Amino acid sequence: MEKQQWYINDDNLKLIYDLLEKYKHKTINFLEIGTGHGYSAIKIMQKMSELNIKGNFYTIEKDDIVQINQKFKGIKLHIITADATKYLNDNLELQENQKEINNIDLLFIDGMHRQYKQYFELCFDLMNADSYVIADNTISHKEKMLDFIDKVKEFNTTFYETEKGMTITHLNKTKYYLKQMNIEHDFVPENKLLLDVCCAPCSTHSIDVLLKDNQKITLFLSNHNVHPIEEYERRKTEQLKLADKYNLEIIEDEYNDKRWFDFIKGYENCKEHEKRCDLCFEYRFLLLLKYAYLNNFNKVTSTLTISPYKDSKTIFSIARKIFDPDIIEYLEYDFKKQDGYNHSIEKSKDMYRQDYCGCIYSRKRD
Ligand SMILES: C[S@@+](CC[C@H](N)C(=O)[O-])C[C@H]1O[C@@H](n2cnc3c(N)ncnc32)[C@H](O)[C@@H]1O
Ligand code: SF4
Repeated sequence: MEKQQWYINDDNLKLIYDLLEKYKHKTINFLEIGTGHGYSAIKIMQKMSELNIKGNFYTIEKDDIVQINQKFKGIKLHIITADATKYLNDNLELQENQKEINNIDLLFIDGMHRQYKQYFELCFDLMNADSYVIADNTISHKEKMLDFIDKVKEFNTTFYETEKGMTITHLNKTKYYLKQMNIEHDFVPENKLLLDVCCAPCSTHSIDVLLKDNQKITLFLSNHNVHPIEEYERRKTEQLKLADKYNLEIIEDEYNDKRWFDFIKGYENCKEHEKRCDLCFEYRFLLLLKYAYLNNFNKVTSTLTISPYKDSKTIFSIARKIFDPDIIEYLEYDFKKQDGYNHSIEKSKDMYRQDYCGCIYSRKRD
């Protein structure tokens, strides 16, 4: 490919190469906005390959001009011919497990300069907790992206004074969410795990697995989604009995169904497994993060994955976007594995077992 003027400069490519070093031998999701003919995409994939970085390389280009004929072992290339703003907007509205692009580790913005801020905002919910946003031409076309420059200043951004300029923003979403919740705390991580518990029957097997793995656990009960209050109390009573039986500490988060209803607003009429449930998981993980951080837990996980009605991949995908493993690690326990659900039924024969997920909408059938 003959190099054209609007292709990425060598000095800026070098900055991307340096950043890729961090991901040596790892598996990542890379998203590029503005493929052009594919010069930067090829160069970046070449470098990924050299560093034994595997994963997905997504690239979006509005015009039908992409010429990438090379393949790189371990890297799955997805060329998307679309207007990125429209495509990303549609992608955002999809359910978690239907999004084509998700859990991005590295985002490279090289599309229309006036749209940089829009790309950033549309991608934000798709980015992993510990991820980077790279933007090209931040000096040469600065005047057209002043709003973007202001936006990235809210995060940990380095401005590189290369010929055309480049910014690299380290998005620490864990810190971002904590700030949103007005949490200030001198975090001193301790080796202990906070377990998000949805109900006693689901907790039985999950606790057994964690204790077998020598995890030091505390239970965290935060069921703002459960309605009506009588049902919340019934589940809570059973959960307290179980904690007592296992001699485990249990923390009860203050019940606040109003906040939960506000959070899922607009998605009340979804079916189970649809977007309302994605938001419901996100909501409980934010509260899990808050308590874990304030109380120096270095690990968290959730009993939600035991249910055959809940997609574990969706749960992990949401967790990856909230918990930065360098601060608080979400342990990806899939409790439904090894017949976990049946084991939990076996162990909870004399317990109260609900017949609906929790929120009022999942109870509609009666
Ligand atoms: C500077 S060129 C990309 C160069 C390429 N990254 C490289 O270094 O080889 C910018 C590209 O972004 C594309 N573009 C601009 N706005 C876009 C949008 N909204 N969606 C998708 N592509 C867009 C343009 O068509 C153009 O091909
Ligand atoms: S059905 Fe269950 S997971 Fe979905 S929103 Fe209701 S309580 Fe939450």
